[in-house]
Amino acid sequence: MDMSRRPRRLRSDGVRPLVRETDLSASDLIAPVFVDATTDERVPIGSMPGHTRVPVDQAAERVREVRETGVEAVIVFGIPESKDSEGSRAWADDGVVQRAVRRIVEETDAYVITDVCLCEYTDHGHCGVVEDGARADPHMTVDNDRTLELLAETAASHAEAGADMVAPSSMTDGMVGAIRSELDDRGFESLPVMSYAAKYESAFYGPFRDAADGAPAFGDRRHYQMDPANGREAMREVALDVEEGADVLMIKPALPYLDVVADVRQNFDHPVAAYNVSGEYAMLHAAAEKGWLDLEAVAHESLLSIKRAGADLILTYFAEDVARRL
Ligand code: PBG
Repeated sequence: MDMSRRPRRLRSDGVRPLVRETDLSASDLIAPVFVDATTDERVPIGSMPGHTRVPVDQAAERVREVRETGVEAVIVFGIPESKDSEGSRAWADDGVVQRAVRRIVEETDAYVITDVCLCEYTDHGHCGVVEDGARADPHMTVDNDRTLELLAETAASHAEAGADMVAPSSMTDGMVGAIRSELDDRGFESLPVMSYAAKYESAFYGPFRDAADGAPAFGDRRHYQMDPANGREAMREVALDVEEGADVLMIKPALPYLDVVADVRQNFDHPVAAYNVSGEYAMLHAAAEKGWLDLEAVAHESLLSIKRAGADLILTYFAEDVARRL
């Protein structure tokens, strides 16, 4: 046996840091923040231990807590005071996200990203305008083209409130282009768009739907979110968003889709983001609660693996916990 090649030589404590290929840093992480217009105190989110929905007047304080851990960026989600069939509170000047963003921008120096979608704002919980008759017919859902205008209006209203970046998540065909041109028309040519470019119809979003109260009242999202069986299709989705002007490309969820993260990294030069979603967070917490996993270790390993696969940025509910220990 030729034993001249011994990979273990590079695993001693002294040399491991020198040959480490991937590093996690607080500046790679984006912390989700939920702002709720229906409450005046913090409401714990049962399925996401450690996370709460905060009232508008605590949004800035919540973001300051994030910043104290070293995490510099947040993504803001809103729970509106009321919902209707079009989701009109999504683009209202005095909507929950608009009010919260103004406060956050005034009182902190966080980098503020907003999620642009209608599902938290519509009474039916779908990510856009539903077609007539959709309630009765499971084969009908969101009217793609009528939704574009509403998404563009929502993104522009976030920009006007002071958001630094907008992140459309509705998987509406053409959403990036529609938002880009509305932003440009209103003088926000320099505001970047992070597209949820390859977003799958995933069962891992369960806890988020508790957190943001956006579960569809009928049907599901398979007519607009991607089939988990498809990897190559993600390259076509991402290429379209690139053509439409996306600045950052996001894959969501993260851990079950690391092959897609790696492929996007290889095929595109844009910054790649991955969303380590609510279910990925909840399952590690649940196993740790049973004493089956070491939470600190698996959280760190998860984020490190997402970076190793090729992500530059990670949106994660572990942001603060992991950043505190870096
Ligand atoms: C849509 C949106 C969702 C998430 C982020 N933006 C929900 C969905 O598509 O059902 C999920 C995030 C998570 O599970 O952590 N506004």
